[in-house]
Amino acid sequence: MEEKIERLLGLAVLTVWGTAAFGGGDVPSKALNQGGVVNTRHNLTQSYLGASSVFMDFARNNYGEVCVYCHTPHGASAVVAAPLWNRTATGTAYTLYNRPTNATVTQPGTNSLTCLSCHDGTVAVDSIINMPGSGKYNAAQASSQNTAFLNAWSNPSGIDATDNHEGLNATGCLSCHNPAGQAQAPDFTVFAIGTDLTNDHPVGIRYPTTFGEGGDFKPPAVSSGNLAFFDSDGNGRADSKNVRLYNTGEGYEVECASCHDPHGVPSGGPGSVFNPSFLRVANTNSALCQTCHNK
Ligand code: HEC
Ligand code: HEC
Ligand code: HEC
Ligand code: HEC
Ligand code: HEC
Repeated sequence: MEEKIERLLGLAVLTVWGTAAFGGGDVPSKALNQGGVVNTRHNLTQSYLGASSVFMDFARNNYGEVCVYCHTPHGASAVVAAPLWNRTATGTAYTLYNRPTNATVTQPGTNSLTCLSCHDGTVAVDSIINMPGSGKYNAAQASSQNTAFLNAWSNPSGIDATDNHEGLNATGCLSCHNPAGQAQAPDFTVFAIGTDLTNDHPVGIRYPTTFGEGGDFKPPAVSSGNLAFFDSDGNGRADSKNVRLYNTGEGYEVECASCHDPHGVPSGGPGSVFNPSFLRVANTNSALCQTCHNK
């Protein structure tokens, strides 16, 4: 009930501010997609919306920092071995890609679980282990979402997200962010991947290790330790624009972060607009697909 009232309050404010009318089609993003993660949709404070970021205040804690929704300098997750990982992972079992392939598909690895901690919709986008400020640390958050702990946060402005810590799912963020939802709220339906991965490019899938003439796959230029990568600029380093494969104990595998860099990847030189959809390689003429596939 409380939630409904707050949502209506949101609507009332929107009617005053809203100017443009949208007849079908999606709303363009207000994120600049340039310069840094702060100017992308991965800035969960939505500060680039200016005053309208308050629409999200009842739905998520506004920590006033960009990196903290994913990383913490101290006390990182022991459950997901991604760099200084600050997010809850509940150990969800995913329905795997099930068409016949030459390779075995296993549960998503670390470098997919990071993304799925928001995009499968089972965990609130603000569910983190270490909130900014002292005394706001809860190690158990690494594997389960504790709403009482998240409620200890007060938003700097607007209303608090008390008990309304929403995820990327139909009853949460998508209750406004759907085609028939609140005016001006972009449609997020396709971004809510859920726990059924049968209709997504396989992840947790082994990359071939032999590359005969006329083979189906291209060999990565560098394979060393836990990372293999296609070194498009030949500098011997795994740059963000390099498609990569991760070895977390099952050999080199394709994961979400093989194709995407969640911080954004400049399309040209430094400062240029980012490739769409956080892609490491823009998929013009299917360049991304053909980095791996010989097709
Ligand atoms: C009460 C309805 C409502 C709910 C619930 C809601 N939003 Fe929004 N959201 C909006 C509106 C309206 C806008 C557009 C504001 C504007 O453009 O000024 C928006 C904009 C955004 C944007 C910016 C999109 C862009 O590219 O310009 C993001 C990202 C976003 N919301 C994320 C979320 C997340 C994450 C949640 C769940 C935690 C959420 N929203 C829940 C109403 C809502
Ligand atoms: C939406 C989640 C998200 C946000 C926000 C985010 N990161 Fe990351 N970051 C990740 C993920 C996921 C990885 C692991 C990438 C991989 O799997 O290869 C990562 C990796 C890194 C790495 C190590 C690998 C690399 O790419 O250099 C650094 C350093 C880093 N992040 C810094 C930051 C900083 C600084 C910020 C804030 C300005 C930030 N990140 C914001 C998700 C995020
Ligand atoms: C902290 C939560 C969170 C994490 C972690 C996260 N995302 Fe997102 N992501 C979002 C939200 C919120 C949006 C904006 C709403 C939407 O588009 O669903 C978004 C948007 C996107 C978009 C669309 C970008 C655009 O400009 O339209 C892509 C692609 C994406 N994420 C991929 C990833 C990948 C890949 C990872 C892991 C490497 C990841 N995300 C990790 C929350 C997250
Ligand atoms: C083999 C490469 C590849 C892998 C692996 C991959 N993606 Fe993507 N992803 C893409 C491409 C290409 C697009 C752009 C599609 C478009 O523009 O329509 C995309 C788009 C997206 C979008 C934006 C919504 C959409 O459909 O356009 C999200 C969110 C996303 N990916 C998340 C993920 C997550 C989470 C994973 C891991 C479970 C993942 N991706 C794995 C290549 C990949
Ligand atoms: C990082 C390397 C990589 C990239 C980039 C990549 N793929 Fe894949 N893809 C794979 C691997 C590995 C498999 C597992 C297939 C196998 O071994 O038979 C696969 C499987 C597939 C399959 C399923 C094949 C089957 O037998 O069911 C399709 C279709 C596919 N990819 C299309 C694409 C498209 C389209 C793109 C670009 C959007 C893309 N791939 C980008 C590595 C990649």
